[in-house]
Amino acid sequence: MRIRRVKKSDLPTFVIAYLYTYSSLPDYHYSHPRDVKNYFKWLLKRDPQGFFVAEEDGEVLGFVGSDARWEDFWGHKVLEIHEIFVVPSSQGKGIGTKLMEKALAYGRSKKRKLAELWVGEKNIRAQRFYEKLGFTRDGKWGKWIRYTKPLEEKLEKS
Ligand SMILES: CC(C)(COP(=O)(O)OP(=O)(O)OC[C@H]1O[C@@H](n2cnc3c(N)ncnc32)[C@H](O)[C@@H]1OP(=O)(O)O)[C@@H](O)C(=O)NCCC(=O)NCCS
Repeated sequence: MRIRRVKKSDLPTFVIAYLYTYSSLPDYHYSHPRDVKNYFKWLLKRDPQGFFVAEEDGEVLGFVGSDARWEDFWGHKVLEIHEIFVVPSSQGKGIGTKLMEKALAYGRSKKRKLAELWVGEKNIRAQRFYEKLGFTRDGKWGKWIRYTKPLEEKLEKS
């Protein structure tokens, strides 16, 4: 398995993998291919350096879209995790953890002190995943729960 930066040409694979992964989740995602396509373009434009894909033998396993240019509600520059998903057949094998570690290491390289993300209140599996990775619940906005994690100056284990 290797993790590399996303390229423009990953768009079709992203759309298929996203729709397939989220089809089993009832909420909190785009369901029209056009919207997913625009979402991909938006992620790539926001921060092309923070957008990664995991693949094995040419097969896409998952994506993480992070953004070191983001500012939180208080105007602090944070590493925002806009998106992370792993295709169902590859979930539970540590790939999501590796993708997140890649994004967090990127945030540290950009000297960000905090990682932030928002997760749907009913997406319990993702919440457990973030908690396992050291994120803690840090507020709520409607149906979205905010999670944050301080980014220390250490390197992530690979
Ligand atoms: C959340 C997600 C990215 C996790 O990726 P993953 O590769 O499956 O996660 P990992 O294998 O690295 O698991 C790390 C930890 O997360 C937790 N976890 C992962 N899958 C879990 C599950 N099905 N149920 C409960 N906890 C789970 C476990 O604590 C696990 O640690 P363990 O294996 O030592 O018990 C993946 O499940 C996914 O793509 N979900 C659908 C999309 C989504 O909800 N994305 C987040 C939107 S905010």
